[in-house]
Amino acid sequence: MSVTHNIAVIAGDGTGPEVIAEGLKVLQAASAEFDFKLNLTHFDFGGERYLRTGETLPEGSIEELKKFDAIYLGAIGHPEVKPGILEKGILLRLRFELDQYVNLRPVKLYPGVECPLKDKGPEHIDFVVVRENTEGLYAGAGGVLKKGTPDEVAVQESINTRKGVERCIRFAFEYCRKRKKMNKLTLCGKTNVLTFAFDLWERTFYEVAKEYPDVKPDYAHVDAITMWFVKNPEWFDVIVTDNMFGDIITDLGAMIQGGMGIAAGGNINPLGVSMFEPIGGSAPKYKGKNMINPLAAICAGGMMLEHLGEENAGKAVEAAAMKVTSKHLKSLAAGQMGLSTTEAGDLVAKYLTEKQ
Ligand code: IPM
Ligand code: MN
Repeated sequence: MSVTHNIAVIAGDGTGPEVIAEGLKVLQAASAEFDFKLNLTHFDFGGERYLRTGETLPEGSIEELKKFDAIYLGAIGHPEVKPGILEKGILLRLRFELDQYVNLRPVKLYPGVECPLKDKGPEHIDFVVVRENTEGLYAGAGGVLKKGTPDEVAVQESINTRKGVERCIRFAFEYCRKRKKMNKLTLCGKTNVLTFAFDLWERTFYEVAKEYPDVKPDYAHVDAITMWFVKNPEWFDVIVTDNMFGDIITDLGAMIQGGMGIAAGGNINPLGVSMFEPIGGSAPKYKGKNMINPLAAICAGGMMLEHLGEENAGKAVEAAAMKVTSKHLKSLAAGQMGLSTTEAGDLVAKYLTEKQ
């Protein structure tokens, strides 16, 4: 009897529903091919619902979502909603309250994709960032005094707990060991200036490293890492870092893998419910035009399958996406793909089901 995976789908705002539709097309093709079932439940969380009801996540939704095997998310962000409300009220709340403490972001240049870095190809760009996802500057600690006056004081503190740092670092070591690529884990920090927070990170990192003699521990400052991403991306295998640095370096990572059109990520709680999303956002100006690139959402779906234990299906999704980039896509950018959103999704599904 085949397994059934119960998936909560939050298509969200902007182009979210369009890319999720293509992702689901591919996931359905994979389920037929690899003999598993998907039981989908759709949730309408996002900007439209907020504008209609004033609610971001309605009462009870976190408990409801905890019952699923995984969450498949499109994009959150609406041009008519003040920045911060939906991000904090939906996306960050889901990450925090579902304790998805790792944000896993592969940076991989697919064949046929134009790389902005001179003389670099798919053999040079293939690493993974393990971003801490529940603490740091994102924890919301701090406050404001005398707002709007010349004496205004704004404090925003980075929260780093031994438990939070250690579980993220452990995840990264385990991940690096299983990946079996270069067996090298780089801590990305700022130990020369942030001498409280990154002292904790550094001590924890080298302590945990002792338990993984097969993984080489390595360190780079965050500013230097942005330089190396451009100059020598082939140096990296797995990188572990805090929430804010991880946010920044993964946008740079997305650009060196060709752009946001392909960048996928997973918000992981290894003991709970994880959530998979394209990292590009809601791109409202392309909404409803059948122009947006669905590959990031499709690849996020592939990551979700791997996470659910459907490793072969997950790998097949990635392989099919690679065939599309190498044979068909002119560019990853919306409107310049040489294919519509739905055509790109159709092609991935076709390659997935074609016998190799
Ligand atoms: C991301 C996004 C989010 C973040 C925003 C939308 C809150 O930039 O997933 O990287 O900063 O984490
Ligand atoms: Mn970001």
